[in-house]
Amino acid sequence: MILIVGGTGRLGRELVEQLARAGEAVRTLSRGASQPIPETHDGVERLRGDLASRADCDRAVKGADQMVFAASGFGLPKGGDPRSVDRDGAVRIVQAVAESGVRHVIMMSMVGAAPDAPIEFLRMKFEAEEAVKSSGMEWTVIRLGSSLEQQLVVLGDPLAAKGTVPLFGSGAAPVTFTSTADAAAIVRRALTDPALRNRTIEWGSETHTSGELAAMLIEHAGKGRVQRIPTAVLKAMSVVARPFSPFMARMAGAGLWMDSGGAAFDVRPARAEFPDIPVRGMREAVASLNQPHG
Ligand SMILES: NC(=O)c1ccc[n+]([C@@H]2O[C@H](COP(=O)([O-])OP(=O)(O)OC[C@H]3O[C@@H](n4cnc5c(N)ncnc54)[C@H](OP(=O)(O)O)[C@@H]3O)[C@@H](O)[C@H]2O)c1
Repeated sequence: MILIVGGTGRLGRELVEQLARAGEAVRTLSRGASQPIPETHDGVERLRGDLASRADCDRAVKGADQMVFAASGFGLPKGGDPRSVDRDGAVRIVQAVAESGVRHVIMMSMVGAAPDAPIEFLRMKFEAEEAVKSSGMEWTVIRLGSSLEQQLVVLGDPLAAKGTVPLFGSGAAPVTFTSTADAAAIVRRALTDPALRNRTIEWGSETHTSGELAAMLIEHAGKGRVQRIPTAVLKAMSVVARPFSPFMARMAGAGLWMDSGGAAFDVRPARAEFPDIPVRGMREAVASLNQPHG
């Protein structure tokens, strides 16, 4: 049985749907806070639980053979807390799986994760990576680029609401994005391919500037304009917003990091190793924006 932690999130939903369709036994763990827990009859066991609770973690890992950690508190505007989810929650459930019969853990991380990374989120992701690597289980760390779909929401929602696309800083730095479809494809491969055991892989789809993304959204909508948020404003927001909107502060900090060029990486070495996995990138994601969600 495969446990998907954060199985109601963007990546989690895609994985659960694909695995259930393929006939795999799947269990999910989430709180039902940012996303409703669907009541469906697809054979998926959906547990309501919190990574903050060791008892919930123990309940979730019982009987699982593999675990994918796809939870996050980073992108949740209300009640999201990367410290308690991406770092402490990850460490807690890795301890729980190490004491159960789980044989392989896949930890979703982010390119740039390092002990001295410029943003706290990447330092926390590094701690989660270290926990899984030293757990004694088989492990795979998958470092993704920035979520393409999340970025389309960050830029596209204001376009739909106010007719403007926010551009953080210059918008001219290259950023490597990973689409949800591509992230799900490499996780599925890691679940079965021994070549992806006990190693870290960096996995991306395409590299674009935020300015290019904005232009594509405006072209797709047929109207709209760019609204620049100067670097100085981002810098101030990343500090001043902390007490009243940690989410805004996190987004401003991430915007600064992306605009520094730190979020770009070379996708080719990993792609060359798995050439049969197609790239599903920006054009496909933008084209599907107006299609009804499943
Ligand atoms: N988005 C990115 O740009 C990006 C980039 C690189 C790597 N990643 C990593 O890739 C993975 C998937 O990201 P995503 O964007 O698909 O995430 P997402 O859409 O934000 O989903 C987060 C999931 O975590 C669950 N969750 C949050 N707090 C929880 C808690 N305390 N206990 C249990 N579940 C909790 C959420 O459900 P509830 O809130 O209802 O509990 C939801 O199911 C994450 O590990 C993320 O860090 C993401």
